Amino acid sequence: MHFRIYRFNPETDREPYMQEYTIDDLDPSLMLRDALLHIKAQDETLSFRHSCGEGVCGSDGMNINGRNGLACVTSLSSLSEPIEIRPMPGLPVVRDLVVDMSQFFHHYRAVKPYLIVHDPVPEVEFRQTPEERDKLDGLYECILCGCCTTSCPSFWWNPDRFRGPAALLQAYRFLADSRDQATEQRLNELDGPYRLFRCHTIMSCVDVCPKGLNPTRAIHNIKKLMVKNSI
Ligand code: SF4
Ligand code: SF4
Ligand code: FES
Repeated sequence: MHFRIYRFNPETDREPYMQEYTIDDLDPSLMLRDALLHIKAQDETLSFRHSCGEGVCGSDGMNINGRNGLACVTSLSSLSEPIEIRPMPGLPVVRDLVVDMSQFFHHYRAVKPYLIVHDPVPEVEFRQTPEERDKLDGLYECILCGCCTTSCPSFWWNPDRFRGPAALLQAYRFLADSRDQATEQRLNELDGPYRLFRCHTIMSCVDVCPKGLNPTRAIHNIKKLMVKNSI
């Protein structure tokens, strides 16, 4: 199988370049991460992140034949050759396929991704009805891989000001939670022209999410809550 992989080591390379690799006898039912491990066995200088191998940890997001995805759940048989692999776009490259996720996690932290409760904390547990709990489905499953945010043109143009689909999905995950008591604070934080409203419903985020989540719908629901709260 034939691969073209983005290479850049800021300590030794003046500019990025694409390196060709050919690996014989690869079983097409393997995942792309397996192929990258084969390549790394031949060329240990190739850098990429990975951990769980099961689509759970979110660490091996990369741009695969022009589309963001997780290498560990992308079957080789689904890819046309040469298989071109680049780092996720829109974030600074640390080395090869490894990007600096600081900006991504800055936005994640900024939406305060945890319950905020002003009432005294109950002695045993916070109670929710099954219907209230159901509202969190499609929101809590995010693995923070960054595939959505780094495929969003609005994020490429305003990476420091637009929160991006992953952080906004998390913002809505807590706005939708019946136990949270910071609705007004959360909505105020997202008000203004950039943090939320830079989303132009291009929907690249929905297209690439490996968990099948829908950040666009979450963003739309936050906008609806803002309108409701302003009346
Ligand atoms: S729908 Fe919004 S958040 Fe998603 S890719 Fe488009 S602009 Fe970005
Ligand atoms: S919403 Fe999907 S694509 Fe975006 S960070 Fe979460 S799991 Fe990854
Ligand atoms: S290695 Fe953990 S999600 Fe792919």
